This record gives sequence, structure tokens and C-alpha cells, in this order.
Amino acid sequence: MKFLAFSTSLALTLSFSPSLALPAGSSDAGEWKTPGEGDDRGPCPMLNTLANHGYLPRNGRGISKDMAIKALDEVLNWDVTVVSDLYDFAQPTNPEPNATTINLKELTTHNILEHDASLSRQDSQFGPADVFNEKIWNETVAHFTGDTINVDMATKARTDRTVAAAATNALFTFPQLGMNFQYGETAAYQFVFGEWNLDSEDVKSRILTPKTYIEYFFKNERLPIELGWKKPVNRLVMDTLQAFTISMMELAQSQMEEKA
Ligand code: HEM
Ligand SMILES: *[C@@H]1O[C@H](CO)[C@@H](O)[C@H](O)[C@H]1NC(C)=O
Ligand SMILES: *[C@@H]1O[C@H](CO)[C@@H](O)[C@H](O)[C@H]1NC(C)=O
Ligand SMILES: [Mg+2]
Repeated sequence: MKFLAFSTSLALTLSFSPSLALPAGSSDAGEWKTPGEGDDRGPCPMLNTLANHGYLPRNGRGISKDMAIKALDEVLNWDVTVVSDLYDFAQPTNPEPNATTINLKELTTHNILEHDASLSRQDSQFGPADVFNEKIWNETVAHFTGDTINVDMATKARTDRTVAAAATNALFTFPQLGMNFQYGETAAYQFVFGEWNLDSEDVKSRILTPKTYIEYFFKNERLPIELGWKKPVNRLVMDTLQAFTISMMELAQSQMEEKA
């Protein structure tokens, strides 16, 4: 398998100008609640989590770019250079003409952003690709063989899931965007929940992530605050995300070469 270079569109210069009127997700923002009847959720465990905490609308609908930028800035310390591009990739999932909002459920539209071989979801061929799937997740967690998830384990978990899905799903597809995004998503959870040591010479220890945080987050779609997690002190900008994601893709290559 050959990994394609990270999409250059992710590195495009931004033409975003910040707006002043940033809407709050909800008046009880912060408090975690299970989604109520009629509330929609989707395939992204983090956007679901932010909706469960009321940092995004609890109904999971009508999320504007400003809302996404504000929530990811305030809660996760993610920079607009990352969020603006991510949001733009998601915008076409809203089928309304000229839509300026996204809906979590519509993110599930296959092969816009939602892709096969998710870490915690089944492939759309087998059933709903938006909801947490314990069987798939257990296969992922089996790769986390200690209390700390290092970059080696996270990368291997990512690659093995793709290999398994390709082998079991006759309709398996992986468009280039999904190919790039899958490693970006694995980078994302490490950046949010792990300890950064990005200058470390050994790529495997550049982020070290408590396994308990990751299990709690994926299973409950809740920030692991009661386990001690705090908002990252370092701001995530696109260059950092991109460099780390590329280093994971290179690591994946070498893991596969070792195996061959
Ligand atoms: C505007 C921002 C975002 C958008 C539009 C977005 C969208 C998506 C979509 C459509 C998926 C489904 C892909 C699939 O697995 O089939 C996904 C997965 C994922 N997202 Fe997000 N996301 C955003 C922000 C974040 C952030 C801030 C995090 C931080 C942890 C995150 C973490 C993940 C992870 C870990 C997955 C993979 C889930 C799995 O493989 O089961 N996302 N995202
Ligand atoms: C969408 O935008 C295009 C181009 O600006 C415009 O011509 C069209 O009328 C708009 N459609 C709707 C439904 O607003
Ligand atoms: C997943 O793992 C947990 C913990 O080991 C176990 O209790 C559960 O039965 C497993 N679920 C499935 C669907 O395999
Ligand atoms: Mg998927």
C-alpha cells in the first residue's frame, strides 16, 4: 500500500476574517448531558462530545463555521488554521443549496468525509457508520498494550484497521481525502488528550496519551475531565498537525516494511 502525500489543499492560505458575533453553543455550556430525543449525532466522536457538553448546539444541527471555530478554540485550543479547513471539507455534507451550517448526522454521508475503516465505527456497508461500535472499538483498543498510548501503537492501530476493513468489506473504498484524514484523525485525538514532546528525536514518543482518557472519550463521548484531563496548553496550528500526520504516515510505511 502506498500512502499519498498529504493533500496540499490542507495547506492553502486562509482567507478567513474573524467575525465578532460568535454564538455560544448553549446557555448551559460545559455541562455534559446524554443526547435527548430528537438530538442528532454523527461519526465524529469529538463533535458529538462538544454537542453533549453544549459547546455546540445540543441538537447537533445548524453548526456554523464561527461556532466550530469558537468551540474548538475555547475547549481544545485549536487554531483557526486547522478548524477553517476542516469545516470547509465538511460543508458539502449539507445538501441545502448555499448552506452555511453543518449538521452532525449529515457528516455520515459516505465518502465525503465519512470513510470506511473507522476506529470506532463499522463500515457503512454493514450498517450505520455514525454510531459507536463496541466490537470495532475493541479491535482498536487491543493495540494499546500499556497505560500509555505511544505514536507507534496509535499508528499501528490505524493501519491495521484499514487492512482489516479492506479484507472483510467487499465494497471497501478509500478515496484520497479519507486516506489523508484517517491519520489526521488519529493525530487529532493524540493532540487533544496526550502530552506533547514534539521535539523528541524518537517519533514514537512525540505524543504520549493516557489510555484511560481515550477509552473514556470514545465510549462516553465526553471530555475526560473527571480523570484529570485539562485543555491542552499548546495551541494546535495547521503546520503542526500536518507535520505530525506526515510523520505518522511515514511510520506506518516503515511498520509495514518491517512486517513484509
Ligand atoms: C470542524 C471540525 C471537525 C469536523 C468537520 C470533523 C469531522 C469528522 C468526520 C466526518 C469524521 C468521520 C470519519 C470516519 O471515521 O468515517 C470524523 C472522525 C473523527 N474525528 Fe472529527 N471532525 C472535526 C473535529 C475533530 C476534532 C477537534 C477532533 C479531536 C479529537 C476529532 C477527532 C476525530 C476522530 C478521532 C475521528 C475518528 C473516529 C473513528 O475512527 O472512529 N475531530 N471527524
Ligand atoms: C446560491 O448561490 C448562487 C450563487 O451566489 C445563487 O445564484 C443562487 O441563487 C443561490 N441559491 C439559493 C437557493 O439561494
Ligand atoms: C468489548 O470488550 C469488553 C471489555 O473487554 C467486553 O466486556 C465486551 O463484551 C466486548 N464487546 C464486544 C462486542 O466484543
Ligand atoms: Mg467511518
